[in-house]
Amino acid sequence: MSSNAKLWSGRFSANTAEILEEYNASIVFDYLFYQEDIKGSQAHAKMLAKQGIITEDELKAIITALDEIKAEISKDAESWAKARIADEDIHLAVERELINKIGDLGKKLHTGRSRNDQVVTDLKLYLKDQIIQLRELLKEIKESLIKKAETDIDIILPGYTHLQQAQAISLGHFWLAYFEKFNRDSERLEDCLKRVDINPLGSGALAGTSYNLDREATTKELGFSDMTRNSLDAVSDRDYLLEYEFIISLIMTHLSQLAEEMIIWNSQEFNFITISDGFATGSSMMPQKKNPDIPELLRGKAGRVIGVMNALFITLKGLSLSYNKDLQEDKEQFFMANDTVKKSLRIANDFINNISVNSQRTYELCKNSYMPATDLADYLVKKGMAFRDAYNIVGELVAKAESENKYFTDLSLKDFKTCSDLFEEDILSELSPEACVDKRNIPGGTGRQQVKAAIIKAKELV
Ligand code: ARG
Repeated sequence: MSSNAKLWSGRFSANTAEILEEYNASIVFDYLFYQEDIKGSQAHAKMLAKQGIITEDELKAIITALDEIKAEISKDAESWAKARIADEDIHLAVERELINKIGDLGKKLHTGRSRNDQVVTDLKLYLKDQIIQLRELLKEIKESLIKKAETDIDIILPGYTHLQQAQAISLGHFWLAYFEKFNRDSERLEDCLKRVDINPLGSGALAGTSYNLDREATTKELGFSDMTRNSLDAVSDRDYLLEYEFIISLIMTHLSQLAEEMIIWNSQEFNFITISDGFATGSSMMPQKKNPDIPELLRGKAGRVIGVMNALFITLKGLSLSYNKDLQEDKEQFFMANDTVKKSLRIANDFINNISVNSQRTYELCKNSYMPATDLADYLVKKGMAFRDAYNIVGELVAKAESENKYFTDLSLKDFKTCSDLFEEDILSELSPEACVDKRNIPGGTGRQQVKAAIIKAKELV
């Protein structure tokens, strides 16, 4: 075998067709695993020594050489990888470096191991770290949302269903709604971790290995909580990656929904918020424009992340046991999607801290609206009327006010009384936006007393 022949060239008599090299290689993206790959190799080598398969001296030489390789790659991992396309993937490239460094001893490292169990070991170690990073980013945006809920609790704005004005709410309540969504995403990641945290090393290519490997030792050394129970499943399983991609798709969906609110609120017609100049962009033609490109991109980029999850489903659905090269397709798009969600969380967090709310306008909209209609019906119910009757009476009142181009606040007690004589003087004070909000003083509701309690609870949760 010449020095740059494939490490697997034993049964081959011709070189790989040039056109295949790039198509077949994953090193241009899976080099991102280099730290996990080396960590996995060092754990495997330690275990080989413990089992008497290599000597302690051999182990020392392997560990030291792998540390050196890691330091060399870390200088410029991307260029290092690009120069090694002929090595296919990070696993073979590191093994070749090791052989280049320590000669024949390097050839012992792969004893009892396959790239098939190696690649999933790397992926799982990598994902464990990503889950920690992502939960930290979620924590940051959750903390921002709590802070905003605290400062904006007294801002009252229309709440919507069907994008039609429905009932007045506290802006604090609105921010905490997104807190809940991101908090669930974080819980999902914690749950997903249970399935990521299972060591597949020792599964070999598909059937295990005939060497006396100590799988418990590598499980402990690599910090996994348990080891896989079936080698065929271990090398073919990408369920945990799909789960992760579902969760990041859902995070992007939540970011996209929040972004959509910001885009609507920023329109001239709504005019609820002003975006600080640093977080808006201009138009090349229309001098008056200040565009919400950032939330539009958050909304747009959700598409590609969801696409990556779909692609992995489609890749997996036709696969027989156990390893098939199709599985290499799991990584390139995953790295992209993972990068997108991390950047998006950071940017969304900055964005919501770079808007100012036009609270006077949102308040006026609540005052001059038919949103207290439910409150009027509830008023009549409290005076003894059945809800459905009250609903219909208030419906008539809405129609009457609308036909006269008036809101409830423009009506006199006499006007109310023409619909029902249960209405008394106190009805007028019941209709203020503050009163409408604070009346919903039920756990989970928008009453400001409840929002305050929810803020305390949210702080406990982060
Ligand atoms: N580069 C491969 C992947 O990403 C590693 C495993 C390859 N194994 C094999 N027998 N071809 O899935």
